Amino acid sequence: MKAVVLAGGSGSRLAPVTGPINKHFLPIYNKPMIYYPLSMVMLCGIREVMLVVNPGDLDKFRALLGNGEELGMRIEYVIQPFPRGLAEGLILSEQFLKGESVCYVLGDNIFFGHDLTYILKEAMADIEENGGAYVFGYNVKDPWRFGVVEFDSEGRVISIEEKPRSPKSNFAVVGLYFYDSMAVEYAKEACPSDRGEIEITSVNNRYLEEGRLKVKLLGRGFAWFDAGTHNSLLEAGEFVATIENKTGLMIGCIEEIAFNNGWIDIEQLKRLAGRLSGTFYGDYLWERIRRIDAGN
Ligand code: G1P
Repeated sequence: MKAVVLAGGSGSRLAPVTGPINKHFLPIYNKPMIYYPLSMVMLCGIREVMLVVNPGDLDKFRALLGNGEELGMRIEYVIQPFPRGLAEGLILSEQFLKGESVCYVLGDNIFFGHDLTYILKEAMADIEENGGAYVFGYNVKDPWRFGVVEFDSEGRVISIEEKPRSPKSNFAVVGLYFYDSMAVEYAKEACPSDRGEIEITSVNNRYLEEGRLKVKLLGRGFAWFDAGTHNSLLEAGEFVATIENKTGLMIGCIEEIAFNNGWIDIEQLKRLAGRLSGTFYGDYLWERIRRIDAGN
């Protein structure tokens, strides 16, 4: 399976901050927002990633992440000339995907929770074996901001509605999806919504119509943020700071994950840490290295 991370868009809800800077570079506590969705993909064991970016941001993303080689990955970039909706990222990645299944992640989504990687890997294996699509629902108090799942009395999914005025449940569909190779076709066939965008919800509904959509609910032991508004950006940063300062372990540290996955060796980890020496982030990496060297 390959991954596509959507990191384009205008970030209009974060204006004026997003006038001069793309939101995916904004800090969630101590690291850029893009590290968090990228780290989810890495935790799933996916090494080939396409980043969908705005025309003016390509050089900045390259400066931050390069071609992924330093993390033992392959990162490619495709330009989204104009934000036409979330599902367009799938269409733009067609050549890269070459008919493979895909983990599609929205670049402003932040996840945390025990066994989350296990749950995602299970879903991933299911899609690779049986095809279809896998999406995840999360209970929120403001469902009208999201794609919302409607269930019948037996708990079966009836529909997914994008930003409904009267949500039929409190379960928002989070921005991490697993799709088989049909997703690109479904995205191409989707009609633009009232807001003129090719919605990812249309792709999900297409899978639902075909009887090939699975929805798993994430319980209250998980945290999920869509950091696309001023409040959620702040909340996400505060959450990450609280957990990291309590545990002494970073969330979304891509160098550490690359090492844990066996994609880079300790020497490479030291090289990467060396570049960040004297910073909070670098000190964390050096502390991890010290503990690895000490065998704990
Ligand atoms: C998008 C999707 C929505 C999903 C949300 C998750 O919303 O359209 O279905 O629930 O991401 O973050 P948007 O970020 O465009 O408001």
